[in-house]
Amino acid sequence: MRLDKFLVEMGLGSRTEVKRLLKKRQVLVNGKIETSAKIQIDENQDEISVNKRVLDYEKFVYYLLNKPKGVISATEDANHQIVLDLLDESARQKEVFPVGRLDIDTHGLLLLTNNGALAHAMLSPKKHVAKVYRAKVDGIITEKDVEHFEAGIELKGFTCQPAKLTILEVNEEQQTSLVEIIISEGKFHQVKRMVQACGKTVTDLERLSMGPLTLDKELATGTFRRLTQEEIKSLKRFGVELL
Ligand code: URA
Repeated sequence: MRLDKFLVEMGLGSRTEVKRLLKKRQVLVNGKIETSAKIQIDENQDEISVNKRVLDYEKFVYYLLNKPKGVISATEDANHQIVLDLLDESARQKEVFPVGRLDIDTHGLLLLTNNGALAHAMLSPKKHVAKVYRAKVDGIITEKDVEHFEAGIELKGFTCQPAKLTILEVNEEQQTSLVEIIISEGKFHQVKRMVQACGKTVTDLERLSMGPLTLDKELATGTFRRLTQEEIKSLKRFGVELL
C-alpha cells in the first residue's frame, strides 16, 4: 500500500499531516529516511518507524462504542449523525462498520470493526450470541410476562426463541418497571416488540453486552475505546482470523 495511506491508517494524522511528517524527514522505511508519500510499501514486511517508534501494522481493528441516543448505527445517513462520526480518523480510514444495529433511540454497547468474517459470525443466527439489554418499561412487568418470554413470544409471523426476562424494579405508583432482557436473536426492534407483545412499552433501551463483550461503566455515553487484547482473545470462539 502507499506509504501515506499506511501512516494515516496507523493514526498519525490526515493525509496532509502525514505529508508534513515525511517532509520533515521523520519517517524511516527499513531504517532509511523516506520523504515520498506515494511510494509503495509492504505493510507486513517493511519496518516503518516515525520518530524512532516502530509502527506495527494492524489488519483488523476493533472499537467498543457507548452509542448515544440520536445517532444512527450505519456508515452513512443523509439526515443524522452516524456512529462513525464518534470514532477517530484511523477508524474511518480502516473502514470500520457496526456489527449489527441498534435503533436510533437505543443506547449502549456497539462493536465496530473492519473484520467482515467476525461480524458475519457474530450476527449468524446459528451462533446464538447472547445480547443483554436493560429496559425501562411503561407498565408493570409480571411473573406471567417472565413465563411468556421463557415460552417464546409470538411476533407477526415469527416465534422468538426462549428469552430471559428479569424484573429489577417495579414502581407501582408510577406504573413503570426496570427489567433486564437476554436474547440470542437480532430481529428488527425485537426487544421493543417482545415487550409490546406483553401489552407494555419500552421507554428506554440500553445494550449492556454482546457475546463476551460488556459495556464498562467508565466508558461515558458517546465515547469509545479499542478492545483490549483479552477481549480480542475472547472472540476466538467465533473461529475466524482476528489479527
Ligand atoms: N431491540 C430493539 O427493539 N431495539 C434495539 O435497538 C435492539 C434490540
